[in-house]
Amino acid sequence: MDLSHIKEARRSLAMSGVAERVEVINKNIWVDCPQCSRVERIVKNMLSARGMSPAPCLLVCGDGGAGKTSIISRISSKHNAVDGVVAFTSLSENPDNLRFRELLLMSLGVPLKAQGASGKMPNGLEKYLGLRKIIAIIIDEFHDALLAQLAEQRKNLSLLKTLSGPPYHLRIMGFGTSSAVNALQQDLQLERRFEVLKLVPWVEGDEFRSFLASIEENLPLRKASKLYSEETVKYLLANTNGTMDQVLKAIKFGAIHALKNGEEKITLESMREGFMHRWNY
Ligand SMILES: Nc1ncnc2c1ncn2[C@@H]1O[C@H](COP(=O)(O)OP(=O)(O)OP(=O)(O)O)[C@@H](O)[C@H]1O
Ligand SMILES: [Mg+2]
Repeated sequence: MDLSHIKEARRSLAMSGVAERVEVINKNIWVDCPQCSRVERIVKNMLSARGMSPAPCLLVCGDGGAGKTSIISRISSKHNAVDGVVAFTSLSENPDNLRFRELLLMSLGVPLKAQGASGKMPNGLEKYLGLRKIIAIIIDEFHDALLAQLAEQRKNLSLLKTLSGPPYHLRIMGFGTSSAVNALQQDLQLERRFEVLKLVPWVEGDEFRSFLASIEENLPLRKASKLYSEETVKYLLANTNGTMDQVLKAIKFGAIHALKNGEEKITLESMREGFMHRWNY
């Protein structure tokens, strides 16, 4: 059987049964793409840049499903390569309804009872960050903090300014929707500290074709689907608006339907079936 369309390390998966292969398809895989690599590179360079006051900050914005949280997970699994600790938080994971300041300080490792009164920084924060070598904080769903009511928003912006300025010099790296950009413009001084990167949808071109080829190399189907072919590319773009999440869903549901009906390769028809029946396979 010719399995040369699958990368070597994953070829043996194609010999498993249907149920096992559906499980493989449902798992998230990471495939490098120029946009993702650019964000990773900029984050790495900002983490390596020393002695800058105020610290360089980053805002990565993209619509729902553009891949923001996935890039953060990727960074969190790799950032050990940098000399310094990065704290992570997501403003959507806030079951205790904490305020922005409380959440940020918690994610830096400062427990609630040691946070002191709002409006100023906890005593000894500078020393604590230095001892723990914390140099940055990455915040998912960043727009949440900036779309609060005006008074709250001002407080939050001012907190970001304090943390990125002396003596803390924390690199603030927010990931969220583009509404965060408008909110940042409320404070021009803070806005200047932020490098803004936009995650844009896929468009027809070599980058997209190469991404599709890499996805295909990971799928345990026994026949080549040639996802990079012109008609598949056109079909995907027309039906997903080029959104990362939608593209992957179209391919994955298409792959599962191709497995279930024994075709063993993704076709426009299996993607149509996939769109229609989704989890009902
Ligand atoms: N480089 C990539 N390679 C493979 N899959 C990816 C990649 N980037 C994102 N994905 C997949 O795309 C889907 C959407 O990604 P993700 O949840 O990171 O988007 P998001 O921008 O955080 O969305 P939301 O705004 O809804 O939080 C996920 O299923 C994820 O596994
Ligand atoms: Mg997300």
